[in-house]
Amino acid sequence: MHNKLKKIRIAIFISGRGSNMESLIKSSENKKFPALVSVIISNNELANGVQLAKNYNVPVKIFDKKKFNKSQFEVFCHKVLLNYKIEMICLAGFMQILSKNFIGKWRNRIINIHPSYLPDNKGLNAQKQALEKKASFTGCTVHFVNEEIDAGEIILQEKIKIIHRDNLQTLSNRILEKEHVIYPKALK
Ligand code: GRF
Repeated sequence: MHNKLKKIRIAIFISGRGSNMESLIKSSENKKFPALVSVIISNNELANGVQLAKNYNVPVKIFDKKKFNKSQFEVFCHKVLLNYKIEMICLAGFMQILSKNFIGKWRNRIINIHPSYLPDNKGLNAQKQALEKKASFTGCTVHFVNEEIDAGEIILQEKIKIIHRDNLQTLSNRILEKEHVIYPKALK
């Protein structure tokens, strides 16, 4: 008899579209994938990802940024994470900087995806930064989260060529496609 794979229980934090969240949920539906998406946490009640998660029957907890300050948000989150026996947190388009205190509690158990070939183009609008520098390539990176923005240890990254006729939309689309591939791989 085969031993049943014990899946790691993960939470995904989102603020918006939720396409990386969806790729993680889809991957985790595979019996052989070593993680189970157990809860989604959103700091934006209007996030497209909230409805998307409901479509997959994954529980969603919303602590809207307009109603809660950062420390309240983190206290609520921490409770949810304990309730759901979460072992790992994946940030996926989560537009809020976590406090040192929260990161300390979850050290080495928070990962993030960023739309650049880190350490290049940290921070907001990474795709635009790459275009404005006329870089020859950019990419996407999955990394551990520490107290410095987009600077934790890199788990997996992929390069993407910037071509002459690229604009923000075409480049962002190509990066995003690759993100959906590397995030589940990195989590695995
Ligand atoms: C992605 O480009 C991700 O790299 C960045 O935010 C975006 C989120 O997109 N951190 P989505 O919400 O996963 O569709």
